[in-house]
Formats: sequence, C-alpha cells, structure tokens
Amino acid sequence: MSWACCSNICPSTSNFLAIGYDLKRFNGNKAQRPKRRLSKSGRETDICAYYGLKTPPYELDALEPYMSQKTLEKHWGGHHHNYVEGLNKQLERNDVLYGLTMEELIKVTYNNGNPLPEFNNAAQVWNHDFFWESMQPGGGHQPVLGLLKQIEKDFGSFTNFREKFIEAALTLFGSGWVWLVLIKDEKRLAIRKTSNAINPIVWDEIPLMSLDMWEHSYYLDYRNDKSKYVNVFMNHLVSWDVAMVRIVRAQAFVNLGEPNIPVA
Ligand SMILES: [Fe+2]
Repeated sequence: MSWACCSNICPSTSNFLAIGYDLKRFNGNKAQRPKRRLSKSGRETDICAYYGLKTPPYELDALEPYMSQKTLEKHWGGHHHNYVEGLNKQLERNDVLYGLTMEELIKVTYNNGNPLPEFNNAAQVWNHDFFWESMQPGGGHQPVLGLLKQIEKDFGSFTNFREKFIEAALTLFGSGWVWLVLIKDEKRLAIRKTSNAINPIVWDEIPLMSLDMWEHSYYLDYRNDKSKYVNVFMNHLVSWDVAMVRIVRAQAFVNLGEPNIPVA
C-alpha cells in the first residue's frame, strides 16, 4: 500500500507525532508515479510523496526503560521521518526510479558500490523499518528451536555469537549498523557491520536482525556508553521471535531454490 500527500497538507514532523498511530494507513513500501489531484478547494495540486513513514509495531513508550519514548520520538519521528521526506523529494526529480519496491530501489541506487544520490535515504528508510521490527517489548534472552540450532552450528554457541555481535557493534568505526544475516548461497549465518546507510541486501544477503549504531539511537538514553546500549539491546530489546520468523521464511525460499527471496 502506498500513500501520497499534497504539498498543502503534508504533515510536519510535529503534526506527524500528534497524529500518531493513525499513520499506519500510510504504511507503504512501493514508489508511485506522481499524479495530479484536485484539492478540496478544487485547485489542482502536485502529489509530493511516494514512500510513507511506517510506524513501529509497538507504542513509542513500549520499550521503556531500555529505549525511552523520547528517543523513539526523535529517532523515528525525527530522523526516520526525515529520511522518508528526503527520499520523496529526490524521487520527484528522478522518473527512472518510479515504481520500484524499496528493496529494488536500494539495490539499483547502490549501483555496485558507487551509490546514486538516492541511496542513503532509501537505505536508511528500509534500515529503520527493519530495526523497529527487530525489537519488541520484553525482548532479549536467547532464540529457541531452529534459529538457536543454526546459531550454535555457525558460531559454536549462543554465548559465542553474543560476544561476537557485541564486539562487532563496539568496534564499528563511526555511524552504521550491525546485522545478523543469512548467506543464502552458503546456508549459514554471519555477522555484518556496515557503515552509514549500507545494508547487507546490497550483497544479496538476508538480514535477520539489526542494531542501529548511529549516535541518535543511543545518546539520549546512554550518552557515550555504547557498551551499555548494546548489552541492553541484547538483554532486553532484540526480538528473537521476529528473527525466527525471518529465518524460517528465508530458509523456505532457499530450500525451494527461489531466485528472489522477499526480505521480511
Ligand atoms: Fe537511526
């Protein structure tokens, strides 16, 4: 489902937050060719947006006390929202990119490592949608069943995986992301750390969960204590339930030999 708004009714960030969860109806992931519409006054206006701001799958205070409502308001309602708006402004000027799914847009604009101007905003929109869904109230602990077995097979033990994931997060230079991915050709899991907006789908890997290591993700709650933030994420926030759904879905497609695996 896609959404669009006219220039004279585009919500500002503050209005967006005031509207809150009614914005679920704007939940979109496919760019639409711009159309012209009549406003209520009968005046023809340009539709100015192509991608929508998805809401996290929980209330903004639901991750308290581990990730504060204030952080979610600024991170989702500010930074994530700005990436959506920035992308939509760029797409107004580039007809070639209309009609692509977000995953297609990211791969095309990554341009084999020579990113086009739209790449950063497109990838950051996707990265944040994925990150919100990688957490849940009451998260943390450790995975179970097939995902746990796969982690034990590829990392030796969950404890070893946990140490390596935390180490990757704390040794990431500058802003970026840490990921648990499934490498579909090798049918094994791996940890990836990426700089700025880059994500593993540009290499055709399948992300299962992610951690935002941009300063805007932790500074309000943890200042410069990245270690505390990362440990809290692993202990209380990461959604192994969602990661389990993602790996089951991905493995089903890998086992069937489907050429294109939709990323959950
Ligand atoms: Fe972020």
